[in-house]
Amino acid sequence: MEKLLQFCNINKSFPGVQALSNISFSVKGGSVTALMGENGAGKSTLLKILSGDIHPDDGHVSIDGVPQRFESPYQSIKASVSVIYQERQLVNSMDVMENVFFEDLPQSKLGFISRAELRRRTQEIIDAFGLPIKPNDMVGRLPVAYQQMVEIMKAYRRDSDIIAFDEPTAPLTDKEIEILFKLINQLKARGKIILYVSHRMAEIFKISDEIVVLKDGVFVNSFETAKTNESELVKAMVGRDIGDTYANLKRNENIGGVLLDVKNLVTKDVHDISFQLRRGEVLGFAGLVGAGRTETMRAIFGADPIISGEITIDGKRVHFRSPKDAIAHGIALCPEDRKEQGLVLGRSIRDNVSMPVLSKVRKGPFLNTKSEEKLADAAIKTYSIKTPSSEKEAGELSGGNQQKIILGRWTSDKMDTKILILDEPTKGIDVGTKAEVYQMVCDFAKLGIGVIFISSELTEVINVSDNIVVMQNGRITGTIAREDATEESVLQLAMHN
Ligand SMILES: Nc1ncnc2c1ncn2[C@@H]1O[C@H](COP(=O)(O)OP(=O)(O)OP(=O)(O)O)[C@@H](O)[C@H]1O
Ligand SMILES: [Mg+2]
Repeated sequence: MEKLLQFCNINKSFPGVQALSNISFSVKGGSVTALMGENGAGKSTLLKILSGDIHPDDGHVSIDGVPQRFESPYQSIKASVSVIYQERQLVNSMDVMENVFFEDLPQSKLGFISRAELRRRTQEIIDAFGLPIKPNDMVGRLPVAYQQMVEIMKAYRRDSDIIAFDEPTAPLTDKEIEILFKLINQLKARGKIILYVSHRMAEIFKISDEIVVLKDGVFVNSFETAKTNESELVKAMVGRDIGDTYANLKRNENIGGVLLDVKNLVTKDVHDISFQLRRGEVLGFAGLVGAGRTETMRAIFGADPIISGEITIDGKRVHFRSPKDAIAHGIALCPEDRKEQGLVLGRSIRDNVSMPVLSKVRKGPFLNTKSEEKLADAAIKTYSIKTPSSEKEAGELSGGNQQKIILGRWTSDKMDTKILILDEPTKGIDVGTKAEVYQMVCDFAKLGIGVIFISSELTEVINVSDNIVVMQNGRITGTIAREDATEESVLQLAMHN
């Protein structure tokens, strides 16, 4: 019998937000159903209800026609459901096999299984995934992409009937994405029910059969992937036509003289990096994940040591010993990983946005709450952060809205920024807001700021930047002007050898 998952009249509210209103739809086995919608639409909340992590105020989940009341994640797992969260849930201090067999580890059931047996079974799963890791590798020491794959192995090992993925590819490199899609297709062929949340259009069209769109916690519509297109989906998600994002961009037409000049930079990760950034220029950095773009910027920002090479700003040689030094010289770096690099989940949006400029909004020994509030409100408006107020804790926001706080922090007008480095600024951000981020990038350039725009999404990096630097394996392999750039020409440089 074909498996069936139903969401029946689900309601869920949090203080000040109706996260889900009367959500009802069904998902069939043997197909991949994508869940789409803007940041804060309610996608993760719905998956958390499916996983028993939170409880609906009203309504229920039903499996094969049987209503379920999950009091805990354990009950959901027992009902053959696995949810892979947007935020990784691994235990870093345990090894791969302990994580993969986590719920079955303590006493009872698997108590008599030897570590040798555990290792053998984990190795089988690793082989099925085709990854170069070992059962006894410590999870905390693995690259983020592999940590995410271990998370997926946990679900695979349980052999659940229902598997839900919440933005699984965000930390993955292209190679792991390929492995993941192959696995998903195998699971689908075995009749599993698969839910898949992502903001990446190309991915949705590649992997899904059906698409469900949510907006502000409300079910908007469902589509057959083969019978819809990108603009129809965007319209359903945003509620209006956003037109041709790139053609509508108001760019800076007056690019000035050289602002940042990097010559023969060498660090432990990158080799012989030379490039120039002009005033008012948007300089894209393209390449595959792991090409060395983040490492290059960290070195320029004073976060990683430089072995040799020269950096000049406005013709003056600089040596930054720390990010603090770099910030004092007008460099701002908006990092790729919001969790590892600075978002304080337990603090309010306001505190998080004003953090680097505290000395400027501070009056004497007191914080100037009013001007902090102004900064936070500006960020909320610029990036359409979905929240009832700037007092809300960062940890209570949806994943994409957390990313927007980091953007707001590093682009607030209290920063005297000369050079703005954005590392994957649109990761996890919905289509409508992406267009706003691109315009903001151009607006900074119009102010004469030199903007470095790192992105692994080829279309955006090619269309937003004035010039595109391509990196591969820690080296620059070419620079292309926007007029001459095509996805093929950039990819060729990104993968050439
Ligand atoms: N624990 C919580 N406390 C308070 N509000 C919450 C909590 N979890 C979610 N919310 C709110 O519920 C709404 C829906 O959030 P959810 O995480 O489901 O969005 P999402 O569709 O997954 O967005 P994204 O694409 O950004 O990940 C948001 O407004 C969010 O701030
Ligand atoms: Mg989410």
